[in-house]
Amino acid sequence: MSRPDVVDSVAELRARIRDWRRDGQRIALVPTMGALHDGHLSLIKIALERADRCVVSIFVNPTQFAPSEDLDKYPRQVARDLDMLTMAKADLAFTPDVNEMYPPGFATKISVGGPSAGLETDFRPTFFDGVATVVAKLLLQAAPDFAIFGEKDYQQLCVVKQLCRDLDLPVEIIGAPTIRDAHGLAMSSRNAYLDEAELQTARQFNLILRKAATALAAGAGQEETIAEASRALIVAGFQKVDYVEARESLTLAPWRHDRMGRVLAAAWLGKTRLIDNVDVSTA
Ligand code: PAJ
Repeated sequence: MSRPDVVDSVAELRARIRDWRRDGQRIALVPTMGALHDGHLSLIKIALERADRCVVSIFVNPTQFAPSEDLDKYPRQVARDLDMLTMAKADLAFTPDVNEMYPPGFATKISVGGPSAGLETDFRPTFFDGVATVVAKLLLQAAPDFAIFGEKDYQQLCVVKQLCRDLDLPVEIIGAPTIRDAHGLAMSSRNAYLDEAELQTARQFNLILRKAATALAAGAGQEETIAEASRALIVAGFQKVDYVEARESLTLAPWRHDRMGRVLAAAWLGKTRLIDNVDVSTA
């Protein structure tokens, strides 16, 4: 199996993509922060179903981490990531360093409104500015036909769609279903932080959200259902619940029963913050 080529400058990235374009090939981009797992690989699979070439960016983006967050601790394992990209048959890895993405004097920030309101933003107020800025850069650098984002980070997916719509970026954003372990835990690079006891608790996260979504779909009251899910997370062993909320699937406005809905949550296990979400209608 051939390893994907690796480029770390925007100039090389553009040169490679220009060659593919000249041959009439369609390009998909999968942005990641590395520490790849089966969730990321599922995005590459979807990318290659749509496009002839799949570029995977690996960049731990400092602007989306607050000073108190895990930027330094975030797992970095590029050699292993490249092995996984080989298995997934990705064509090109783009691995810029911080200086390539944010050279001295960099002074622009993209701030998306709409779906960024509340949820993650209440607890990570600068997070989506960092995500929107780096995703806009990656999309302008690679100029792909498609870019694939996981529903695992549902609010991020909505923010990226809003970004592309508002800035007329000529790319189709594709949402991909969440990949879970056999116990329903959404795969995440941050799961590596969990010890065995925390892992057992983490595996109840999705179950509790699905129960809430099923109750909402059946007509249970929103306030009681959400409060009950929050309580259940604490009983399961989470130390702190940042939020459990029902939102409208497309706009992330507060959910009303006649609309497609999503239950989204974030909760802490020790020093690890986990997020997950489930669809209300299919729960
Ligand atoms: P990262 O957390 O590495 O995730 C990269 C992509 O993989 C995101 O689109 C995320 O939603 C998706 N993903 C993660 N776990 C998944 C799972 N279990 N199933 C399906 N998809 C999953 O999200 C980021 O990086 C960054 O914010 C980024 C968009 C790269 C900008 O820096």
